[in-house]
Amino acid sequence: MRLAVAGATGTVGRHVARAAAERGHTVVPLGRSTGQDVIAGTGLEHPLVGADAVVDVTSIVTLSARSSRRFFETATRNLLRAERAAGVGHHVALSIVGIDAIDASYYAGKLAQERAVVVGGVPWTILRATQFHEFAEQMLTRASFGRRVLIPRTRTRPVAAREVAAALVTAAEAGPSGRVGDLVGPREEDLAALVRRLLTFDGDPRRVLDLPLPGTYGRGLRSGEITRGQNATVATTTFEQWLQSEDHVRLVPASRD
Ligand SMILES: NC(=O)c1ccc[n+]([C@@H]2O[C@H](COP(=O)([O-])OP(=O)(O)OC[C@H]3O[C@@H](n4cnc5c(N)ncnc54)[C@H](OP(=O)(O)O)[C@@H]3O)[C@@H](O)[C@H]2O)c1
Repeated sequence: MRLAVAGATGTVGRHVARAAAERGHTVVPLGRSTGQDVIAGTGLEHPLVGADAVVDVTSIVTLSARSSRRFFETATRNLLRAERAAGVGHHVALSIVGIDAIDASYYAGKLAQERAVVVGGVPWTILRATQFHEFAEQMLTRASFGRRVLIPRTRTRPVAAREVAAALVTAAEAGPSGRVGDLVGPREEDLAALVRRLLTFDGDPRRVLDLPLPGTYGRGLRSGEITRGQNATVATTTFEQWLQSEDHVRLVPASRD
């Protein structure tokens, strides 16, 4: 199979590209470093000629509902336009578990993306997953202020990006299937506790402040909704196993050994 991966340089996209190649597929990475911009809509059509499926794992870092909607609607529209022009028969999108009632902040864009995929004219599959184990790492780079890390109070059920990627490649292989069962991690956890365990593991002295965010988004994060998968498959890699794996990128040199 010829599989295009939009966002192949990203946290989960790297694993999608590797897993697809390991299964013998030809991987076509789509990203700004290879000349494709899903927001400008440039450079997309030519690499999609002959592709059997596109896996979209692009993303934006934002807490603004407006920016998030604009990003995911535009990226999806541009990708689907190029897919239709190139004759691609399957679009696979990755979304997030339990966001239906949290039409706010980043999640507003994910709901808009799902709607755009459904009406976009290319046969589709949508897989929803919970937050990645790697989300704790992402929070460290995105929410650190000096020696403090501000973590929104969040119930989560984290899953290894590697397992999400494997499920996306399986979905691409299966052909268009609509909304498939969700993928959730093995244990429910507090995000702040995960970040503290990660800092301890890395020997990183930063301190975590666990803050309840206001509004629909903050309530949604605390509610546990985003841990409740529908028809869910439970992934197996625990946060501790992931910490000790090659997939965890240590952000500071360890001082323990
Ligand atoms: N992180 C989580 O915990 C989590 C959980 C569930 C679902 N998801 C979903 O998984 C998807 C990927 O998330 P992630 O955390 O892996 O993202 P990420 O690490 O931030 O990677 C984002 C990717 O998007 C690409 N990208 C951004 N703007 C682009 C543009 N204008 N044109 C082309 N490519 C662009 C980036 O490529 P370049 O910068 O190289 O161009 C990068 O490869 C998202 O849809 C997210 O909602 C994430």
